[in-house]
Amino acid sequence: MLQALDYARRHQDRFLEELVALLGIPSVSTDSAYAEEVARAAAWLVDHLRGLGATGAHAAPTGGHPIVVAAHQAAPARPTILVYGHYDVQPADPLELWISPPFKPVIRDGAIYARGACDDKGQLFMWVKALEAYVKTGGLPPVNMKFIFEGEEECGSTHLPPYIQAHTDALAADVVCISDTALFAPDVPSITCGLRGMSYVEVTLTGPNRDLHSGVYGGAIENPINVLGQLIGGLHDADHRITIPGFYDDVRPLTAAERAEFAALPFDAAAWAAEVGVGHTRTEAGFTPLEGATARPTLDCNGIWGGYMGEGAKTVLPSTASAKISMRLVPDQDPQDIAQKTRAYFEAHAPPTMHVRLEEIHGAVPVLVSTESPAMAAAAHALEDVYGQRPFFTRIGGSIPVVADFKRLMGLDSVLMGFGLDTDAIHSPNEHFGIDRFRQGVESIIRFLAAYGSSS
Ligand code: BES
Ligand code: MN
Ligand code: MN
Repeated sequence: MLQALDYARRHQDRFLEELVALLGIPSVSTDSAYAEEVARAAAWLVDHLRGLGATGAHAAPTGGHPIVVAAHQAAPARPTILVYGHYDVQPADPLELWISPPFKPVIRDGAIYARGACDDKGQLFMWVKALEAYVKTGGLPPVNMKFIFEGEEECGSTHLPPYIQAHTDALAADVVCISDTALFAPDVPSITCGLRGMSYVEVTLTGPNRDLHSGVYGGAIENPINVLGQLIGGLHDADHRITIPGFYDDVRPLTAAERAEFAALPFDAAAWAAEVGVGHTRTEAGFTPLEGATARPTLDCNGIWGGYMGEGAKTVLPSTASAKISMRLVPDQDPQDIAQKTRAYFEAHAPPTMHVRLEEIHGAVPVLVSTESPAMAAAAHALEDVYGQRPFFTRIGGSIPVVADFKRLMGLDSVLMGFGLDTDAIHSPNEHFGIDRFRQGVESIIRFLAAYGSSS
C-alpha cells in the first residue's frame, strides 16, 4: 500500500492531465445533440481501463447512452467491490457565467474548473487512479474491482436498472463503492449514509382553448398562470410544511439519537446561507436547517412558464401554464405514491375552469445505509488515516437513484465516500474540484482498498 500511495503522489500531475482530457469531452446526457460526445467519453474510459489491464472493458449499448463496465481480478479469495460512477454531466448553461469555458478545463487557485470536475468525472477517476497505483507498483490491488460507469445519471438513469437486472452475475460483488457526494466541510471527513429520494412531476393547467386578448376576456375568463401561482403558493403552509394530503404519512420520524447526531455536526447555518447570498434559512417548523436540507422531505418548483416571456409587453390571457416540481423524499416515502398524491392535490384544488395534466418525469427511492459493515469500517479507517480524525456519518440532501436499485436488484449496500464540497458548484456555473481533495480522495481509496482487502 505504501508503494501505491507513493506512486499516486509522484504521478498526481499526470493524473490531472488525464482528467483534463476526460473533462474536455462534453458528455451532456440530457441533450440529444451531445449523444456522440457521451459515446466518446465512454470510449475514452474503456480505453483507459484497458490500458490498466482491466478485463472485459467495454461500453455496453443501451436504448440510451452506453454503460461502461470493466473488471480487475486480484484473487478469487479476496472480497470484490463494484465501483459505480457516472461520466455524464449536466448541461453547462448559462454559459456566460463561466469564467473559463466549461469544456476547456483549467487549473486555477488550486482547483480544476470544468463541468463534471466534481460531479462526477473527477470523483470516479480517483478509483481508476487508485487501481493504477496498485497495478503499476508491481502488486495486485488488495480486492477484486469491478467498474460500472453510467452515462444517464443526470437524466433519470432510465436504462441502468434493467441492465443491472440482466447482468447480476457479471456484476456480483460484496459491496458497491461510490464517490459522488460531498465531504461535510473542508477537511472534515464524512461518509454519506443517507440520500434523499425524488418524485419529479410536470404540471400543466389549460384554461381557454387559445391565447386570448386580456382586455377582451380578462375579468371574466380565468387565467391559468394566476391559478397555477395560487396552487403552487398553497403547497406550503405558514409552518413551511407541505400541504399535499398524506404527504408525510410514510415519513419515518427522526429518532432522538439521530437528532443528537445532527446537532453534534459542525454546521453554521448562518454562514451557509450567507455563502449563497441569503440572510436567513427557512425550514419546516420544529426542524433545524441541517435536518431540513438532508433528512426532511421537500417540494421545490424548478421552473414555471406560460404566456409571453419576450421583450416588452404583450397583453395576453394565456391558454396554458406549466411548472416543473421536484420533491425530495426521505424513508419510507414512495416516489409513485407521492406523485399520485400530488396529482390529487392539483385535481382537487384546480377550479372547474381549468384542465389539469400531470406528467411523472422520474423518481428515486430514498436510502439509508447501515453504518455497520466491514466495508464501512474500512472506509472509516481509511478516512481517519488521511484526515487525522474519525469521519462523521452524514446524510446528503441530493439523490443517487442507483443506490436503491443495487439494494433491490442485488441485495448490495453502498459505501458513499465522496470528496466534493457544497461550494464546488455542481450543476452550476464554474463547477470545480479542489486538487487537494482529488489527492485526498485517491489516498483514501488506496487505503480503503487495503483495509477492506485485509478485513475479511
Ligand atoms: N452527485 C449528485 C448527487 C448529489 C447531490 C450529491 C448533492 C451530493 C450533493 C448526482 O449526480 C445528482 O445530481 N443527482 C440528481 C438525481 C436526480 C436527477 C434523480 C439530483 O440529486 O438532483
Ligand atoms: Mn453525481
Ligand atoms: Mn449531478
